[in-house]
Amino acid sequence: MAALGFRGTLTQLLQARFPVLYVETFEEQRVFAEIAGVLAGWKTPRTLWHWSVTEGLHRSGTTPTRTSTDPAAALQVAREVSDSSVFVFADLHAHLGDDSRPADPLIVRTLRDVVRDFRAGDLARTLIIVAPILRIPPELEKDVTIVDFRLPDERDVRGLLESMITQNQAVVRVLLDEAGRDRMTKAALGLTLAEAENAFARAMVVDGSLTDRDVELVLAEKAQTIRKSGLLDLVDSDVGLTDVGGLGELKVWLGKRRNAWLAEAAQYGLPAPKGVLITGVPGCGKSLTAKAAATAWGVPLIRLDIGKVFAGLVGASEHNMRSALATAEASAPCVLWVDEIDKGFGAGSSDSGTNARVFGTLLTWMQEKTAPVFVMATANTIDHLPPEFLRKGRFDEIFFVDLPGDAERAEIWRLHLHRRLAAGPAAAMDYTDLLIADLAAASGGCSGAEIEQAVVAALFDAYSQRRPPAAADLFHAIESTVPLSVLQEAQVTALRDWAALRAVNASSTAGP
Ligand SMILES: Nc1ncnc2c1ncn2[C@@H]1O[C@H](COP(=O)(O)OP(=O)(O)OP(=O)(O)O)[C@@H](O)[C@H]1O
Ligand SMILES: [Mg+2]
Repeated sequence: MAALGFRGTLTQLLQARFPVLYVETFEEQRVFAEIAGVLAGWKTPRTLWHWSVTEGLHRSGTTPTRTSTDPAAALQVAREVSDSSVFVFADLHAHLGDDSRPADPLIVRTLRDVVRDFRAGDLARTLIIVAPILRIPPELEKDVTIVDFRLPDERDVRGLLESMITQNQAVVRVLLDEAGRDRMTKAALGLTLAEAENAFARAMVVDGSLTDRDVELVLAEKAQTIRKSGLLDLVDSDVGLTDVGGLGELKVWLGKRRNAWLAEAAQYGLPAPKGVLITGVPGCGKSLTAKAAATAWGVPLIRLDIGKVFAGLVGASEHNMRSALATAEASAPCVLWVDEIDKGFGAGSSDSGTNARVFGTLLTWMQEKTAPVFVMATANTIDHLPPEFLRKGRFDEIFFVDLPGDAERAEIWRLHLHRRLAAGPAAAMDYTDLLIADLAAASGGCSGAEIEQAVVAALFDAYSQRRPPAAADLFHAIESTVPLSVLQEAQVTALRDWAALRAVNASSTAGP
């Protein structure tokens, strides 16, 4: 159904005389326009009606009479209308109950009457409920059909941008070439049309011109909007794959997919990529790699905070999950980073029924999504992950990130020494291959994070004595580190055993 788009799906459902449709969206005006657009093209016309609490029930295009502002009364009137019609009801969700209160029984009963009436008889009548949130009382579950209404796609947003440019030609200097307009459009993907309009308008009025620099402004606006959902965050990642030491297999795998999932999937109709699950020993670069991949591919990195979803900090979790996924989809191509996905399943996670449903929403979406959204999930423990999550085919690959081996530790030392010391007072310090090799040998069993911490600790030591750091500081720091792999040997061993059977080693030369 998704491939048909909203108009196609709606046309089919109306022609097949489905009694009640439900469209979940914040974009009322855009939905109304789409519905009117669908009906306008028909040979056998249907009357379009609108209902809202303030305007009552009225024919589209006529002045609202403000009669039947009561929802039950309005539904009764709809039942009695004797020509083929489509009724669009805007505020009905307020009566359909939520987690804390049941639906209004009168409305539920009237809706069931509507279903019965609309199914019988020769007239073609359909009720369309348009609401920002999905609420279907159990009594109506079998009678209501949900119709997907997606956020605006690239064409919609580009259309908006062009029309705003034309409208404001006289007052705004437009210094955006074709590629610039393309970037501007992409930056606004994931926003509703109204939000995109605000972002563009802001970009125009700030300095009376529209330039390449305004793309940043639109991105900032988008980051804000995305954050409002409470679950998503647009991450500003400045690390690349070259900042990841070791993990050769994983880097090669990701590098190969650079074009495969973007260009080919989109243009040649290849199945959209599912993504990867990266498990492994804490502090060995799982999160780092997720960030680096998005940078390497030049696509936005959107983080989904699964902890918040499952901790129930956010009410109406299912709804939030769905709207978060819709936003990610509209922002495609992008990487959706689900960091520490295992957090949601640990002991002490709250209501298990809600968990299962929210989680089901994610799994179904992963299965069915057609947009190029690359899911990059990371997990520390696998004990709590439900088996269906690990089923073959759910992810393109499951990687295991082990403790770095000798060569990898050398690489990680070099990276962090370079990052922290290259510019500072220690620039003079000569980190020879020999020193690096000695450090690598001294840090067996340490994770990348522990090596990084040792470099930082050495710097602190030296700084406290107001002298440049020396090799001895580094050795001292690493020798006083008790690696997690020692502290939690049993867990790390269990994780390794699990991974040996089920995951691909992220590194070609791993093992401490
Ligand atoms: N392979 C590596 N190469 C370079 N730096 C690394 C590597 N692994 C870890 N680090 C350093 O340690 C920091 C923490 O790593 P990261 O957050 O990626 O670990 P993680 O595997 O996600 O750990 P956790 O399971 O605790 O979330 C990184 O920001 C990076 O500075
Ligand atoms: Mg992490």
